[in-house]
Amino acid sequence: AKNISINVNEDDQELQNNIEKLVNALPKETMCGIPLFQYNGTWYPPNAIRGVISSQQLFQADESDLILASFPKSGTTWLKALIFSIVNRNRYQPKHSPLLSIQPHDLVPTIESDHFRDGLPRNLHQLSQPRIFSTHMPYASLPHSIKASNCRIVYVCRNPLDTVVSQWHFVRSMVKNNNASAQPNPIDDEFFDNYCRGFQAFCPFWDNILGYWKVSLEKPEGVLFMNYEDLKQDSVFELKRLASFLGFPFSAEEEAQGLIEEISTLCSFENLKNLEVNQKGLRLSLIPTTAYFRKGEVGDYVNHLTPSMVEILNKLVEEKFAGSGLVF
Ligand code: A3P
Repeated sequence: AKNISINVNEDDQELQNNIEKLVNALPKETMCGIPLFQYNGTWYPPNAIRGVISSQQLFQADESDLILASFPKSGTTWLKALIFSIVNRNRYQPKHSPLLSIQPHDLVPTIESDHFRDGLPRNLHQLSQPRIFSTHMPYASLPHSIKASNCRIVYVCRNPLDTVVSQWHFVRSMVKNNNASAQPNPIDDEFFDNYCRGFQAFCPFWDNILGYWKVSLEKPEGVLFMNYEDLKQDSVFELKRLASFLGFPFSAEEEAQGLIEEISTLCSFENLKNLEVNQKGLRLSLIPTTAYFRKGEVGDYVNHLTPSMVEILNKLVEEKFAGSGLVF
C-alpha cells in the first residue's frame, strides 16, 4: 500500500478498475457500520478513499488556487462560506450571495469526495477563478502539485473535545439518517475509544492537525492556521486576518461600511442553519444536510462526555501536542 500508483494514461474505465483493485488491497475495518480504509497512515471513508488516491496523481494545482483544509467537524462548512464570501465579494454583495440558495459544500466542493470521488476528475473546468477547494487529507498526503505550488492553504482547527462530540452526532445522523439533535448522552464508549486510538474518518486527528501546524510555522505565507474558537470569539479580527492571507484584504472603506460584519452575519451559524437550502436533502446520497448545522457552540463537550472521557482526552491531547506550541 505504501507505493500505490496509478497510470494516468489509462482510459477512464481502466483507471477506475485499477483504483478499485488498490482500494481492495488496503487494510479495512468497520466503524459504526461504515468501512474505513487505511492508506498512508490515515483512515478514509468509502466516499473519499478513491478520490485521495487518484487526486494525488491527477490533481493539477494552479498558483492562484485556495485550499481549505481541516479535520472533519472543525468548522469546514463555516470556512467554506467565509472564504467564498470574502473572495467573491465584488461579484456578489452579501444580500445577493449564492450562499442564500446553494449549500456551502456545493459552492466549495471537496477534492477527494466531490471532484475525484470515483477516481476520475469531475467539474474542474467550470470553476470560477480563483478556484476554491476543500480537503480533509493530511498535509503529507496532499497532491504533490499543491505542495509544489504557491497556492494558499487555510487550515481550520477545533478543540478535539468538541470535535469528537460533533463527529459522534454526525456519524449517528448518517447511520440513522435521523435528527442529529436527538442523540443519546454520553457518547458511545467504543466510538470514543476509537477516536482516541486514531481510528475514525481522517484520523489520527493529531497527525492531521500537527501536519498543517508545522507547515504553518515553517511557511506562514503558504498555510494560515485558524481556530474555530478564535473565530467565534473575535470574528472581525479573524476575518481580516483570513482576507489578507487569501490576497483579498478588506479596504479601510469596506471596513468602515461594515462589510466585515455583514459577511460574518451572512456566514453565521444561525443564518446558515435557518436557510431553506440547508434544511433539506442528503449530501453524497447519505448525509442529511442538517447534520452540518447542529449546535455551533464552543465547549458543548461538557454535555456529552463523561468527566473520565474529558480526562482521558485531555491527557492524550497533552501528550500528542507536547512541544508543538499548540494549546487547546
Ligand atoms: P457542532 O456539531 O458542534 O454543532 P464541519 O463543517 O467541519 O463539518 O463542522 C461541523 C461543525 O461546525 C458542527 O459543530 C456545526 O454545527 C458547526 N458549524 C456549521 N456551520 C457553522 C457556522 N456557520 N458557524 C459556526 N459553527 C458552524
